[in-house]
Amino acid sequence: MRHATRPTVVVGALLLTGGLAACSVIPAGGGDGDDLLVGVAMPTTTSQRWIDDGENVQAQLEALGHQVDLQFAEDDVPTQVAQIQKMIDDGADALVIGSIDGTALKDVLAQASAADIPVISYDRLIRDTQDIDYYATFDNARVGVQQATSLLSGLGVIDETGEPTGVTGPFAIELFAGSPDDNNATVFYQGAMSLLQPYIDSGVLVVTSGETAFETIATPAWNGETAAKRLGPLLDAHYTSRRLDGILAPADIISVPLLEVLRGAGYGTDAKPWPVVTGQDADVTAVKAVVAGELHSTIYKDTRQLAEVAVTMVDALLSGEEPETNDVTSYDNGVMVVPSYLLASQVVTQDNYEEVLVESGYYTAEELG
Ligand code: GAL
Repeated sequence: MRHATRPTVVVGALLLTGGLAACSVIPAGGGDGDDLLVGVAMPTTTSQRWIDDGENVQAQLEALGHQVDLQFAEDDVPTQVAQIQKMIDDGADALVIGSIDGTALKDVLAQASAADIPVISYDRLIRDTQDIDYYATFDNARVGVQQATSLLSGLGVIDETGEPTGVTGPFAIELFAGSPDDNNATVFYQGAMSLLQPYIDSGVLVVTSGETAFETIATPAWNGETAAKRLGPLLDAHYTSRRLDGILAPADIISVPLLEVLRGAGYGTDAKPWPVVTGQDADVTAVKAVVAGELHSTIYKDTRQLAEVAVTMVDALLSGEEPETNDVTSYDNGVMVVPSYLLASQVVTQDNYEEVLVESGYYTAEELG
């Protein structure tokens, strides 16, 4: 139940910036908070964060007196479409959707729109449709920058203030990205490459495989096994006579299986120390790996806060009010710029995990023990 508690940040107290396009929809059910049904469609239960997201959103909506239909689609697009369709058929008054394929919901959301059901795009941007109302997420470009920053500082190329140390390497690295159908994956990659590319160009970083294009390094469905199957042959082909120094990995669900491949190849020993490997989500397994010195970093995104943003948006819409946003320019979904609320993420390393994750109450010390 650790994630079901409400965050200390009160979203309503945060700054409202930018003028919103008029796009709120008042549902047929009215806005009195009684007997309103909210459909919550989450992508998968394969990583802890999405389970926490679903449960947090559900708990917070129920605390406001709403009924909730929470569904997980196990990374299967037709399943998610069918789940959303059923929510619409069941008379949902609002939808909160963490999409699998951001481009696959156009038709079903046209039906939601026809039924005047407001839609919140949750964490991942739903693309190619005008039938969404708001986007609740983290500053995803900044997540990518943070991942690259922690890779560079782990290698000693930049110091804790972000300034170059003058260390020239060369450091051998490999790059991994997330699922191509998830808009976030591209945004993380672009954010990271904005920092890494100059060091690749100057030869401080060397991607030995030469594989740097997003399409080449992407991992469909964020599948950790798929990523592991890519790393094994890369190590065999390029790292028998030299050591791998670092890996840009986009999320813990990928980083942790990569660590196992590395362990199998003899890394994590005095002769072959762990490469600097990045992550994202502060999944408990990954944080344990950070504590053990195996994973260099993860990115903490407080899913309690994200749930609160989405729930506050839903509640405003159900009451006929305009939700608070703080970014009305960054997220063009191919059809419209979606008014968004972006939350801040934080890099977690061995140095600060206690302060960031334990003292904040996100995990207990026992959970990480
Ligand atoms: C992204 C999300 C990340 C990570 C990843 C894999 O969309 O923003 O936090 O969870 O999916 O599930």
